[in-house]
Amino acid sequence: MPVLRSLRERLAAERPLGGLRIGACLHVTAETACLVRALGAGGADVALTAANPLTTQDDVAAALVAEGCATHGRRGQDAGAYAAGVVAVVDGAPQVTLDDGADLIAVLHGSRPELLDGLVGGTEETTTGLVRLRALESDGRLACPVIAVNEARTERLFNDQYGTGQSTLDGILRATNLLLAGKTLVVLGYGFTGKGVALRARGAGAQVIVCEVDPMRALEARMEGFEVMPAVEAAARGDVFVTVTGNRAVLSGAHFERMKDGALLANAGHFDVEIDLAALRAVAVEEPRDVLPLVTQFQLGGRRLNLLASGRVVNLAAGQGHPAAVMDMSFANQVLAVEHLVAHGAELGPGVHPVPEAVDREVARLKLASLGVEIDSLTEDQAAYLRGWLAS
Ligand SMILES: NC(=O)c1ccc[n+]([C@@H]2O[C@H](COP(=O)([O-])OP(=O)(O)OC[C@H]3O[C@@H](n4cnc5c(N)ncnc54)[C@H](O)[C@@H]3O)[C@@H](O)[C@H]2O)c1
Repeated sequence: MPVLRSLRERLAAERPLGGLRIGACLHVTAETACLVRALGAGGADVALTAANPLTTQDDVAAALVAEGCATHGRRGQDAGAYAAGVVAVVDGAPQVTLDDGADLIAVLHGSRPELLDGLVGGTEETTTGLVRLRALESDGRLACPVIAVNEARTERLFNDQYGTGQSTLDGILRATNLLLAGKTLVVLGYGFTGKGVALRARGAGAQVIVCEVDPMRALEARMEGFEVMPAVEAAARGDVFVTVTGNRAVLSGAHFERMKDGALLANAGHFDVEIDLAALRAVAVEEPRDVLPLVTQFQLGGRRLNLLASGRVVNLAAGQGHPAAVMDMSFANQVLAVEHLVAHGAELGPGVHPVPEAVDREVARLKLASLGVEIDSLTEDQAAYLRGWLAS
């Protein structure tokens, strides 16, 4: 994680977070440990709790505890232990929160409002958390600034497009050992994530078809060189289907009826609702059976459809999720967002705020530097030209 490392070196020299109490509710993984160390190098006192009962790496949690970071979380913990960890971090009266799903902010606003006075602000790592925060904001109850790290341009590019694009195909290939070259892969949803899947699949030699409901995105896919058509038409053409819409029943009975023998169905969207599993069971003529550890086969009277990872998010269920290089960008945004809150939190005021453009650019600059890539700068004359309104 070279970008985070370079920030850690600067923070260690400048100590801009001296004495700051940070409460974090993030997945307790090796990448998060690097974030905790970077914040600690800047002088912060970090308490961490798991953002999901199933994602804690116990060895990482133990290592953080040994380093003096109060860490709550154990892989497979029950809902009670999970909630107790969130409350324990809130009880430490954090001045800044780092959330992945808005749990810390929700508890602070729900059962511990007396601690809101000392809160400078928070950051949010994921879409679901932002949905909750915006609901709190529209209720007029959000009492602090929260920076939407999830929506930084550098985060979108790396997390959604490159990270999920690659890891989705990786999950499919690990589960099936399929040769993508020459296959027809149908991507349903051409948002930030679907675009990544489509581009990576084309790179691997697949013929890619895109299905969309948004005319702008459908047009973009077409101009990018992909075939675009309604899902029911694509159903008869595809060898592999990937849903990545955030919507439900995107593949359902009418599609299953038309699919070819041996078609693979995978989902990369957040919830397991995109492939209509009830409809799939309904068209099957016998009990589905597992033909590989993560592949369930449905017999449709002469045709077989293969469902990957029970329709759950395939890059995590069948692969390793995002590479560290992706989290490097996310967590660099987190560190700079915390610095921004410390410096400007009072001016920001309550509400969900975008990651400042300067932060996004700095993360991109550091990433380029870590890759050894140099770019040009505007001359004084060019900068003045771009600021002016005269044509010459
Ligand atoms: N697997 C991962 O690691 C990972 C990472 C990032 C996002 N996600 C998830 O992927 C999903 C999509 O995220 P995104 O950031 O690309 O969202 P997005 O909103 O940018 O794109 C979703 C696209 O799907 C289209 N769509 C909606 N309903 C459709 C339908 N019935 N048929 C065809 N297209 C349809 C929308 O028009 C939109 O263009 C979300 O559930 C998100 O949480 C997963």
